[in-house]
Amino acid sequence: MQRIAAMGWDELQAAVADCRDCRLCEQRKQAVLGVGDVEADWLFVGEGPGAEEDERGEPFVGQAGKLLDAMLAAIDLQRGRKVYIGNAVKCRPPGNRTPEAAETAACFPYLQRQIELIRPKLIVALGKPAAETLLDAEVKVGASRGRLFDYRGIPLIVTYHPAYLLRTLPDKAKAWEDLCFARATMNKLAGA
Ligand code: URA
Repeated sequence: MQRIAAMGWDELQAAVADCRDCRLCEQRKQAVLGVGDVEADWLFVGEGPGAEEDERGEPFVGQAGKLLDAMLAAIDLQRGRKVYIGNAVKCRPPGNRTPEAAETAACFPYLQRQIELIRPKLIVALGKPAAETLLDAEVKVGASRGRLFDYRGIPLIVTYHPAYLLRTLPDKAKAWEDLCFARATMNKLAGA
């Protein structure tokens, strides 16, 4: 993975587009690297592209994406403005199934490189696959909320995935608490 660890954005984009390191490449229309400010303070990491993302080549553009945009707006953030949005896997898992551990592991060097290039101040892991990929540990989202984790020196917060929140409305209030925690953490990090 030495190769990926030395890439710039253009090489990374090209490598992801051509990647055949796991079987998710077989059914994708296109790989989805990520979107946003490459000098972002905030990095949001989801699970993997769904049907609309696979079609359009941008993360979180379907229903879950609309909710993510609303969540961002709730803490005065906007896609692309000091915000980068990526995923644990860059290719759509067929039928939107959860990516397997071997698939997130195969894709992880790309995410690692994205994080090295962006150097965000705070990472928000959206749901279990993102949290487990980044923390390399088993994670229960409910038990991990409100805590500050560490990804290679960068503070990391775990919250629910927007697609889960669309199915589980009562947990939206908890996600709101998590966003307030994330905002307060960022304000502290920025010395505000
Ligand atoms: N869900 C995700 O985890 N990522 C996307 O890009 C879209 C939906």
